Amino acid sequence: MSLDGKVAVVTGGGRGIGQAIAVVLAQHGAAVAVWDLDLPGAEATATAIRDAGGRAVAVGGDAADAVQVRAAVERTHTELGPVTVLVNNAGINETVRFTDLSEEAWDRLIRINLKGPFLVTQALVPDMLEAGWGRIVNISSSSAQTGSPKMAHYVASKGGVIGLTKALAMEYVAKGITVNHVPPGFIDTPLTRQTLGDVQAVAAMMPMKRAGTPEDVAHAVAFLASEEAGYVTGQTLSPNGGRYLV
Ligand SMILES: NC(=O)c1ccc[n+]([C@@H]2O[C@H](COP(=O)([O-])OP(=O)(O)OC[C@H]3O[C@@H](n4cnc5c(N)ncnc54)[C@H](O)[C@@H]3O)[C@@H](O)[C@H]2O)c1
Repeated sequence: MSLDGKVAVVTGGGRGIGQAIAVVLAQHGAAVAVWDLDLPGAEATATAIRDAGGRAVAVGGDAADAVQVRAAVERTHTELGPVTVLVNNAGINETVRFTDLSEEAWDRLIRINLKGPFLVTQALVPDMLEAGWGRIVNISSSSAQTGSPKMAHYVASKGGVIGLTKALAMEYVAKGITVNHVPPGFIDTPLTRQTLGDVQAVAAMMPMKRAGTPEDVAHAVAFLASEEAGYVTGQTLSPNGGRYLV
């Protein structure tokens, strides 16, 4: 499996799952633009890739803001060239009882988790159409498959990401562009620690008795980004340790 000569964008690549995805795509030969709101985080990921002999650039900005997305695309084009692999990974989560969920919290989360992938994908699809080849991988969530209490806005946003995946898979099915989604199960990341606190206690309740690692997710993404996955589109590949069986 090789991504030699491909340019990839990973949103939210400054830490957690996105960082592992950026590193693993680079290990397969892709030049990676690491986009993140947290520029020092993005720089740390890009530096780790370069130190290992890969090509990477760090790009700061909000992946859910149209003006900042345009600027990030320009910077990526200048530094690395046209993009044919996109991983929409940036996302946020919080737990809140449905009756306490404010309109502001709803709008903020839907903006980052659902509008972000719309804006970034729309900005990068022209590169893929031009190349006649593209791979779009959206990071959804197992909680959109199972439902989850106190996460109505999060589950709704990830359900939207799954719908966006299917719609675009069909829109580009004859253009050489595949669109798939990866719903991680319970993965040990900074977000999980912030949201849940005791990761070990939750991990013990998982079928494999452990949390997933960011790398468990990254390897699934790398497969979907590869040449070899060219006949796979509109699909779900679930690194979830048996938490939910499709
Ligand atoms: N950790 C899990 O168990 C789990 C499970 C299912 C799905 N997911 C999804 O995986 C993705 C990554 O999660 P994680 O656990 O690594 O999170 P994380 O919070 O550890 O990392 C997310 C990164 O995204 C960046 N980011 C957030 N909003 C952004 C924006 N608007 N623009 C640019 N960058 C932004 C953050 O700065 C951060 O570096 C998210 O979409 C999340 O919903 C995670």
